[in-house]
Amino acid sequence: HARGRALRPRRPDLQAPQPARHRASLTRRPAPRLAGATPCPHKRAMTDTETLPRTGAGAPKRLFIKTYGCQMNVYDSERMADVLRPLGYAQTETVEDAAGGILNTCHIREKAAEKVYSELGKLRILKEQKSGAMTIAVAGCVAQAEGEEIMRRQPAVDLVVGPQAYHQLPELLTRTARARGERIGADFAPVDKFDALPKARGIQGVTAFLTVQEGCDKFCTFCVVPYTRGAEWSRPVAAILDEARALADQGVREITLLGQNVNAYHGAGDGGDWSLARLIWALNDIDGLERIRFTTSHPNDMSDDLIAAHGECAKLMPYLHLPVQSGSDRILKRMNRKHTAEEYLRLIERIRAARPDILISGDFIVGFPEETERDFEDTLDLIRAVNYGQAFSFKYSSRPGTPAAERPLVDEAEASDRLHRLQALINEQARGVMDGMVGREIGVLFEKPGRMEGQMAGKSDYLHAVHVKAEGIAPGDLRRVRITEAGPNSLAGALV
Ligand code: SAH
Ligand code: SF4
Ligand code: F3S
Repeated sequence: HARGRALRPRRPDLQAPQPARHRASLTRRPAPRLAGATPCPHKRAMTDTETLPRTGAGAPKRLFIKTYGCQMNVYDSERMADVLRPLGYAQTETVEDAAGGILNTCHIREKAAEKVYSELGKLRILKEQKSGAMTIAVAGCVAQAEGEEIMRRQPAVDLVVGPQAYHQLPELLTRTARARGERIGADFAPVDKFDALPKARGIQGVTAFLTVQEGCDKFCTFCVVPYTRGAEWSRPVAAILDEARALADQGVREITLLGQNVNAYHGAGDGGDWSLARLIWALNDIDGLERIRFTTSHPNDMSDDLIAAHGECAKLMPYLHLPVQSGSDRILKRMNRKHTAEEYLRLIERIRAARPDILISGDFIVGFPEETERDFEDTLDLIRAVNYGQAFSFKYSSRPGTPAAERPLVDEAEASDRLHRLQALINEQARGVMDGMVGREIGVLFEKPGRMEGQMAGKSDYLHAVHVKAEGIAPGDLRRVRITEAGPNSLAGALV
């Protein structure tokens, strides 16, 4: 990777042994591979179903997948199911009847990571009740960061597979069936994974996620993603367009392009690397596909062509998730965000000049180390200046191995108080934006029947849930709706 400097751990002690539960040495070295693992044997293993035990003649084995964390994990879970379907695994919502259980985990905050261990405790009991006739796998970002610790803390786990290695699940399960207790590490070669994944996706609905970019080179000082997901990498244009066309053929009307830094996308295409904007314009030409969204973006990668696309590209929706984390320049600097509050506000102005009705969404961290009341008030000022339609806010969670973990923490009660104040302001703004939809005529993509008789539910262009009572609407229909009412969590309206 060209940016080799960024790939090395920030401090030498990151590689030193750490206390047991902090053993997740956050380096980007590939974790050790399973002893004797053959290189990428997916093609053979995918058809080699005979090596796996079946519960009855041709009976499907039930697969339970539980997903934590971001949309990228949702995409990965769907793809794990796609990889395992040819082996006779059918997904189940009830873990009790499962022959295999996968936890697709998130490491972003301590709570998210700890949940995994309590869930594994429950799976262990279930496995004992089944006299061991259940395979337990841990995938995702905790698997990447704490693989060895998982195996140590929970011996019932059969295999651990990182975010870039799950295409090897068929091979790994075969191996597990033969010799339980082995494990595989994960490495960072997303190209192998995407090449190996089956073309067909088991998508049911009218909306779908499509991962176009993986990893992150930004190294915000609080964040584990550059370590758990590896270096920034973009999928080639042709593979994305193929996947998008196939989704449209399957009835998908809305695609959300995913990446930890999706607007840094620079995938190989005709004539060189394509920007995200160029990719969106190409997707805009796919018949049957009606809506395009993307998430998550970094302010510093918001290029002119992407901003312009928001004003010009018909299928690109007027919604942008653009996290800023803090409104204090001092804290932004300490977070290594590499932009100021003022620069973010000017950027929002430019985006709104291109698309005045765009709904802006964000992420905030409160109680970042050394955040003062003054810093926090700067954040509230920024929020007031932007007027968010939605935002996610989190109390800072110290992640072992990240640079910020070494710094003095803000008092817990103080951080909680700030979180409440920030959320109150955001809720007020989101309420105002939703109330402002009443009387407007907007696009709604219908997805499924609503809870009430004769009702259909869908999402507006601005991503609000909308209910309409009308005859003759089918999932996948994109209709104009006049909004008549704004409820606590959704809008109601009538077809125009
Ligand atoms: N790539 C995206 C988001 C990645 S993680 C971006 O750059 O914005 C999603 C959100 O989790 C972040 O935006 C941040 O608000 C939050 N987050 C990440 N690390 C965190 C930590 N250590 N403590 C609390 N929140 C955190
Ligand atoms: Fe984490 Fe996002 Fe920062 Fe990357 S840009 S380090 S994913 S918060
Ligand atoms: Fe969590 Fe990994 Fe996503 S840490 S937020 S699942 S990239």
